[in-house]
Amino acid sequence: MKIKSRLPEVGTSIFTIMSRMALEQGAINLSQGFPDFPVSEKLIHLIHRKMKEGHNQYAPMPGVPALRKAIAEVVQKTYQRPSDFETEITVTAGGTEAIFATITALIGTGDEVILFDPSYDSYDPAIRLNGGTPIHLNLLPPDFSIDWDEVKKKITSRTRMIMVNTPHNPTGSVLNASDLKTLEQLAVEHDLIVLSDEVYERIIFENKTHESVLKYPALAKQSIAIFSFGKTFHATGWKVGYTIAPEAITKEIRKAHQFITFSVNTPVQMALGEYLTDPENFLHLGKFYQQKRDFFLNELKGSTLKPLRCFGSYFQLLSYEGKKSDVEMAEWMTKEMKLAPIPVSAFYKDKSDHKLLRFCFAKGEETLQKSGKILRIV
Ligand SMILES: Cc1ncc(COP(=O)(O)O)c(C=O)c1O
Repeated sequence: MKIKSRLPEVGTSIFTIMSRMALEQGAINLSQGFPDFPVSEKLIHLIHRKMKEGHNQYAPMPGVPALRKAIAEVVQKTYQRPSDFETEITVTAGGTEAIFATITALIGTGDEVILFDPSYDSYDPAIRLNGGTPIHLNLLPPDFSIDWDEVKKKITSRTRMIMVNTPHNPTGSVLNASDLKTLEQLAVEHDLIVLSDEVYERIIFENKTHESVLKYPALAKQSIAIFSFGKTFHATGWKVGYTIAPEAITKEIRKAHQFITFSVNTPVQMALGEYLTDPENFLHLGKFYQQKRDFFLNELKGSTLKPLRCFGSYFQLLSYEGKKSDVEMAEWMTKEMKLAPIPVSAFYKDKSDHKLLRFCFAKGEETLQKSGKILRIV
């Protein structure tokens, strides 16, 4: 039988390739973005308790009410935005399903979606699988800001959505209030939906405040904000996230969500609902990761690789000089130096190569120390 692929050009992702290479080569793996330190014992006990208490069957389709109520309270406190847990919050299988369900619900054949490269790898295929046309614009290095004049030029009568991501993977850049105001003005003027990927909302440094779309009332009316407990609680394997969007948009997202996963892990949702009620469990995340970033930067001192500014997320970009492409450099570093990064060109549709490598610093000090030692002799 001849199979007609809907994503013919999609192969094995760079994350799989680099992680496999790291394993084969016995290299330290700073390529994939996951923490190597433990999840809170308290949270693990809570999940265990919820399982023992018998919460092991399907959860309600939009999410466990207690968790949605807890999310609404946190969102009110953090962004001063009231959100109705019944009609505006939907629990999803991680940020990835939230992105896919949102695009599936709202994007169809012929719709254009503006997104910014370097971008998270699920955005483009999610748009194309649903018949949409991704319009890739490049962020401006070295600070990876959005060129709003370019955005204005690319808006057409077919533009349906703009996707933003702050704090940003892979660059660590963050959007500021002026970016959000411009986004709001464009969204209102052109009647656009905004998908705002905010999975790193709490991993933000140097006393910067996270500029959520939820803080801007006119923007929030046309936006879906996407979050991930995997990032906030060092538990990327649990795959629990959520969307916040106005009722009419949420209604559509839930139509897709109910046929993608229907519902999400019950005992984890129950436990998160309880765990979220204590802000001590998440308020210090920015400080925690800023210390990790600074520890890593300190270990790098003396390296020929130069760090770019990183204001959020748990990724540090390093630039290098020389003839090697970033893919060659990443391979060389993994095989010869036994340290695996990700080449940043992998996050670009046009494969732009700015000679940048991405390193995940969500690791224990010993791993960061060993990595620094290698980077000092590269
Ligand atoms: C920018 C961005 N969005 C979404 C996700 C997916 O989140 P989750 O692991 O909760 O599916 C990630 C994970 O790496 C990410 O970096």
